[in-house]
Amino acid sequence: MPPALKALLAQLIGSAVALLLARNGLVAGLWQIVATQAASAAVAAALLRSARWWLPIHLGFVPLLVAAQSLGLHPAWHLAAFVALVLVYWTSFRTQVPLYLSNRRTAAAVVDLLPAAPARLLDIGAGTGSLLRPLARARPDCQFIGVELAPATWLIGHLLAARQPNIDCQRGDIFARTWQDFDVVYAFLSPVPMAAVWRKAAAELRPGALLVSNSFPVPERDADFVVDVDDRRRTRLYGYRIPPHATP
Ligand SMILES: C[S@@+](CC[C@H](N)C(=O)[O-])C[C@H]1O[C@@H](n2cnc3c(N)ncnc32)[C@H](O)[C@@H]1O
Repeated sequence: MPPALKALLAQLIGSAVALLLARNGLVAGLWQIVATQAASAAVAAALLRSARWWLPIHLGFVPLLVAAQSLGLHPAWHLAAFVALVLVYWTSFRTQVPLYLSNRRTAAAVVDLLPAAPARLLDIGAGTGSLLRPLARARPDCQFIGVELAPATWLIGHLLAARQPNIDCQRGDIFARTWQDFDVVYAFLSPVPMAAVWRKAAAELRPGALLVSNSFPVPERDADFVVDVDDRRRTRLYGYRIPPHATP
């Protein structure tokens, strides 16, 4: 079952349990009912084997909704917040890749992986360009292209890179364009697309080109090398050289 459907089901189960208990007089008062709904939704999500990080979301969802209602905010604020979130997260319910950014130490480690000769790097899912900007400063001889699906995230990256001529932030789907003219492809996505990322890299990149994945290894394939970045989140970079006759 897709995670978003599981989340909806867990919320509905939580609401049904809370309503049932309230009808039978077993819970009373708004906040008791809300707490029952939240706890039941979290238990339902756990039983549905949702990823662990869904549990705090279920625990907080309806309580925060009720708390926000009590603030008496104009409905336009809710709409504005919703639109902003949509523009940043866009289709992450489908891609299952949220937004989080590479840090400076990771960028420095990626600089060390770039070929000595002028090269072209593609950041698949470039976010706000937080990897591309330090790379482009460190290697003015190289070209850095970012492809990003979410409109607001892309726009921020595009504006922030406006003064760096060796960065090109493009809006689009990473799977809808060719990767064949790149020497290095950098991914910081999630475990979900990594098998498809490898298939595309192996099919399109030149032999000897490099796929670097931040945090998420390609399933069922040993990395050619692993770089442990000296940062607080203990970032690991998994490197894969495209073999001469790669089998996807
Ligand atoms: C974890 S962020 C990484 C951002 C950036 N690469 C970095 O390291 O700072 C992943 C980004 O990939 C984008 N993304 C996910 N699937 C995508 C796809 N199919 N095409 C383009 N962008 C995608 C998301 O919108 C998100 O901004």
